[in-house]
Amino acid sequence: MTRFLALLFALPAAVLLATGCQPDQPAVPLTPEPGFRVEVGTDPHSFAEFEKVRITHLTLDLDADMNRRTLTGHVVLDLDRPEPGFQRLVLDTRDLDIQDVNAVRPNGEYLPVSWRLGGDHGHLGQPLVIVLPQGIEQVRIDYASRPEAFGLQWLDAEQTSSGKPFMFSQSQPHYARTWVPLQDTPAVRYTFDATVRGPRDLMVVMGADGNLFERNASGEYQFHMPQAIPSYLMAIAIGDLVFAETGPRTGIYAEPQWIEAAAAEFDVLEEMVDIGENLYGPYRWGRYDLLVLPPSFPFGGMENPRLSYITPTIIAGDGSLLALVAHELAHSWSGNLVTNAGWRDLWLNEGFTVYFEARIMEALYGEQVRDQLAKLSWDGLLETLETVDERDSQLVRDLSGRDPEQAFMRVPYDMGRFFVDWLEHRFGRETFDAFLRDYFDHFAFQSITSEDFREYARENLVEAHPGLASMEELDQWLYQPGLPETALEIRPESDDFERVDGWRQRWLAEEVGLTELPVDDWSVHQWRHFLTGLENRLDAEAMAAMDAEFDLVGQQNYEILFLWLMRTIEAEYAPGIERLEQFLLEVGRNKFTQPLYAALAASDWGQDWAIEVYQRARPAYHPLTRQAAERALGLGD
Ligand code: BES
Ligand code: ZN
Repeated sequence: MTRFLALLFALPAAVLLATGCQPDQPAVPLTPEPGFRVEVGTDPHSFAEFEKVRITHLTLDLDADMNRRTLTGHVVLDLDRPEPGFQRLVLDTRDLDIQDVNAVRPNGEYLPVSWRLGGDHGHLGQPLVIVLPQGIEQVRIDYASRPEAFGLQWLDAEQTSSGKPFMFSQSQPHYARTWVPLQDTPAVRYTFDATVRGPRDLMVVMGADGNLFERNASGEYQFHMPQAIPSYLMAIAIGDLVFAETGPRTGIYAEPQWIEAAAAEFDVLEEMVDIGENLYGPYRWGRYDLLVLPPSFPFGGMENPRLSYITPTIIAGDGSLLALVAHELAHSWSGNLVTNAGWRDLWLNEGFTVYFEARIMEALYGEQVRDQLAKLSWDGLLETLETVDERDSQLVRDLSGRDPEQAFMRVPYDMGRFFVDWLEHRFGRETFDAFLRDYFDHFAFQSITSEDFREYARENLVEAHPGLASMEELDQWLYQPGLPETALEIRPESDDFERVDGWRQRWLAEEVGLTELPVDDWSVHQWRHFLTGLENRLDAEAMAAMDAEFDLVGQQNYEILFLWLMRTIEAEYAPGIERLEQFLLEVGRNKFTQPLYAALAASDWGQDWAIEVYQRARPAYHPLTRQAAERALGLGD
């Protein structure tokens, strides 16, 4: 109805603007009236009507202003128009200042076109509706991002370890629209070129080809992305960056203060890429570098192509937290090469990646480490399944009407991974590895749905190797809530963890003293298991005794330190609380900060204290970290 009305109003303009307009063409509101609303298209988290017109390439030209916290410039979008008569281009934007929109004629001339920003749809932003005259295959949009852009974090000089400003993007799942107007759906892929100008004393890097090994004195940087990627993989960062090589095609970017420790921690990077290739075929992206971000980075890692973003909180000094690097690298196949078409299919990205991560870790460190990691993931999954409601305990999840942020929980990751484990278990490693190599090859550079995978698996696994698994069994994993019964076939066991359970029990029962615990043999993951099992079991006195023995409060390993701080909140343990304050002021990784704030809010002593610390920490937090912390603390909406 709305669309029909808008068409009526727009009709004279349509006739004027769109030469050659046929009377039987689809309803195209050329100058949408105020209040005009575009329905969401095929992807419930994007306004793009990508089946009718689709971006194939984009050319960015941006100036970064670190003081004003803006990216200003323009983007030229190359379009494929499978429905040439369809004369509307709808782009996703959020908090963008759109200055001008022009169509570009094949001869390069600009042609001003009508456009309008539609209503505000909260986290989905505002659709930018552009009139697309016939025959036009390029559109130029002049725009600026705003300081509050959700997908960018701007840090002032005093908020970084280098003492110089820093900016980085986080586009997944749907924040690319806060710094580029585009079709912000993983169903659309495009190549891109970019020219970015930043301050001369900083370096600009992107998830693309063209990253330099040294700062460019002119402050201008050129990038090219020859492989078609979805928008959530668009990435840019600007800071006082230096580079250290870890191999012929791998290296690390970081602020000077981190570089040495980071290069040492990640010295297996080149080997990891080789392992990945041996498992699932060529690494197709050229270089693989890591960008170590400031500790306010809201995630552990982000698989930006050619340049994964990594939190410094995994630099433990002993390589014990490298699974995260294996994970982001694995996305170069599962996710970046073969991509989920929508966020309902996230398990295709994350489930395969957690499986692949485990295979890389097994190849590097052996079965014991693999089993420990599998057990952590299993226990975490079971805990999650107990708390979430049914619709969220399914691999393929309908997320329409919900924020795609909510797709990212343990289910697509860990249940996805155990589904893939189970397929390997049923078909045998050799058959399954061959299947996966073919799968990555077959769907390379495509965005696919769970159903595309299902059909491919039917043909190439279930029917090609009859008698090993049925489609009903596969469908239980995909579409039934919770773990299916067949999951018991692959339930991970870890002797190492069982021994830790035994020691924990004996210590709690006062049968053994702290000095008798064989901690010298414990891996970081065994420590994690030990501390997780002490939830609500310690008082301040017991914690002080543990600190006297093991100095946990002085831990350099953030996974262990985090668990110790959780126990600190439960036990109201003073020395830990001091460390917790420092931690919250320094680290913005959501996986840590969110549960810490939630535990403080739920404790009988910590709510006001936490709000006070949060107010001080907030300026250096990423918008995502702020959002999660405020929810945990019951602030705002
Ligand atoms: N793609 C994710 C990062 C991400 C998560 C982006 C949620 C947007 C929303 C990345 O590959 C990832 O999964 N990171 C994990 C680490 C992994 C080892 C589970 C993380 O950051 O904790
Ligand atoms: Zn991931």
